[in-house]
Amino acid sequence: MVSTHPVGVQPSGNQYLPEKRSNTTLSPNQELLPLSARVNRHNCLEIGGCDVTTLVQQFGSPLYILDEETLRTACQQYRDTFKQYYKGESQVLYASKAWNCLAVCAIAASEGLGIDVVSGGELYTALKAGVSPDKIYLHGNNKSREELILAIESGCTIVADNWHELHTLVNIAEERLIASESTLSTQHSVLSTRIMLRLTPGIECHTHEYIRTGHLDSKFGFDPNDLDQVFAFVSKQPSLNCVGLHAHIGSQIFERQPHRDLGVVMVQWLRDAAKYDLELTELNVGGGLGIKYTESDDPPSIEEWSKAICEVVQQACADQNLPLPKLLCEPGRSLIATACVTAYTIGSAKVIPDIRTYVTIDGGMSDNPRPITYQSVYRAVVANKMSDSLTETVTLAGKHCESGDILIKNAQLPKTEPGDILVVMGTGAYNYSMASNYNRLPRPAAVLVANGEANLILQRETYQDIIRQDCLPERLK
Ligand code: LLP
Repeated sequence: MVSTHPVGVQPSGNQYLPEKRSNTTLSPNQELLPLSARVNRHNCLEIGGCDVTTLVQQFGSPLYILDEETLRTACQQYRDTFKQYYKGESQVLYASKAWNCLAVCAIAASEGLGIDVVSGGELYTALKAGVSPDKIYLHGNNKSREELILAIESGCTIVADNWHELHTLVNIAEERLIASESTLSTQHSVLSTRIMLRLTPGIECHTHEYIRTGHLDSKFGFDPNDLDQVFAFVSKQPSLNCVGLHAHIGSQIFERQPHRDLGVVMVQWLRDAAKYDLELTELNVGGGLGIKYTESDDPPSIEEWSKAICEVVQQACADQNLPLPKLLCEPGRSLIATACVTAYTIGSAKVIPDIRTYVTIDGGMSDNPRPITYQSVYRAVVANKMSDSLTETVTLAGKHCESGDILIKNAQLPKTEPGDILVVMGTGAYNYSMASNYNRLPRPAAVLVANGEANLILQRETYQDIIRQDCLPERLK
């Protein structure tokens, strides 16, 4: 915890508020609370002009609260810094695995972003949200034939991951060609599938450090040692319109050097492709920029990260005497994590003298599986006691039948009572998208807040939803 307060003065939840600096827009990934967070005269947390305690009364608990200002600001910062620092064309994609739903896809698209999807379900959602198919990129290391056909027929780009997929794509194209010949003489080009190739760059990131290896042990993408074979194969397939290369090196990364190295490696690959008469015009460097989950996390800003990538790709192209490709990136976490908080209601407590005090909330590993899955660390405030001193150290436990269902160990909070509203920060990425119904808990609702208005973007699941897919065979009735 922050230890820079005068002796005898306890910090309060206010310490996490974004500090407005004059004339500078804060980089959302460097803040703990959403940009619109304030404390009102009732000592309560407000987000998007809405009192969090009122939101919980209105929409129930637990509740995901998504701040539109923070999400849009992050989208704009990525979009505008790529425009500013890159002399060629650029396109930012939102890696929607972080949080894929209609409203979030629609907001990202309205800011000019494309969408990266990794399954038929994410693709279907993006299409239904009105995202233009030419800005949708389908990823995945084992896409089904049905997923590929949906993407091809919708006009999306497919990021081809492996040999099996390339062969399947050629096979699908042949079938479509035969089908079209029986109807009318469709041009070959109309039937060619727009693809990119995903490669494993040999740069592996472990958040605060990274290693480079020749052969990277990753389930994703082509081995760079197969590059010649892949290029030779693709260049001979009239049904595949290969437009570029993709790589993604990891997530929650705080250093800029791994992405600089990636830029250099990828431009080298572009040059290699030219030997096969493959005119590759797009380069996608993936996502990975980290966010601040705790005071000690110090990620670069969106602008610093984007600038580093734009500069290195430009320089590498100049060195290799290559024209600038269209530059794409696909951040997920740094676009949306800080925009959302999860509000819970505090319930029971258990004091184990000299050991620990457990304070329990009405959700847990089903709405945020990151602590139990990755030992991720979060910070929390009590929304109705924002100015109170942080006098207690407690362990915040979820309500699941699982001892490991601990949301935050040693949380610094004011004195809490049942009914208080606990707000966990930085829950926009990989929370709802990885949520489950473990113990048959209905998934929480989500609201979008802006200018004092709250709109439901995900309904709370009901017990009817919980049994919707259950089937009871006649003989068991
Ligand atoms: N592109 C590709 C191909 C990816 O695999 C990922 C994330 C991204 C982009 C976005 O990366 P980001 O900007 O969000 O770091 N569930 C884990 C994170 C898994 C990330 C998977 N791939 C977590 O909760 O930390």
